[in-house]
Amino acid sequence: MVLLLLLKQDIKKILLTIIFYLLSIFFIENFSLSSNNKKTETSFKKGISIYKKANCSSCHFWHAEGGNSHGGAAASLRTTDLSYKELLKIIKCGRLGTNMPYFSRNALNSDDCMYSKKPVKELEEITLKGSKLLNSNEIKSLAKFIENEIKNKPLTKKYCLEFFKREENCNKYHD
Ligand code: HEC
Repeated sequence: MVLLLLLKQDIKKILLTIIFYLLSIFFIENFSLSSNNKKTETSFKKGISIYKKANCSSCHFWHAEGGNSHGGAAASLRTTDLSYKELLKIIKCGRLGTNMPYFSRNALNSDDCMYSKKPVKELEEITLKGSKLLNSNEIKSLAKFIENEIKNKPLTKKYCLEFFKREENCNKYHD
């Protein structure tokens, strides 16, 4: 009899532990999911605003698919196969001998860009400077944004709306 009672208590404990365990998994999952979504949302908005601020769209167009512009044939950022590191470098340093400008203030004397062997005066003639330079945090956010939201991604209504903030420009896109 006593043994049975003890067993009953144990089962109660075990059941309670299982319920507690399941509940905590549920809360942790939901909480981290919603904070992850928020983070993605913020970096999406931030990415587009830097893309607009630096005027990348003047050559790669608002949709980032590239095409012919005053800057020559700008590559599509949607079909690029550059890695995050390579994206970071090209935004920082530009691409010598093409119309892709540099956007880091330190591009001409930074070792990262490997331009530093030549005198700055000479470099100024063979490089193109972005019309609006970006700081290193902005460059990182922009490279991450291209890596996560543009590269290998279709053009979406969400992107269009965030870029133009006008429904009538984006009617033909569907998410
Ligand atoms: C003045 C025009 C112009 C502007 C402004 C410009 N780009 Fe470019 N970009 C180009 C051209 C042209 C190329 C192609 C270079 C080549 O032929 O290799 C290019 C190439 C690139 C590439 C390499 C893609 C690949 O797969 O090789 C990336 C990434 C890129 N641009 C990102 C940007 C970002 C981000 C901005 C804004 C911060 C920007 N560009 C602003 C003209 C421009």
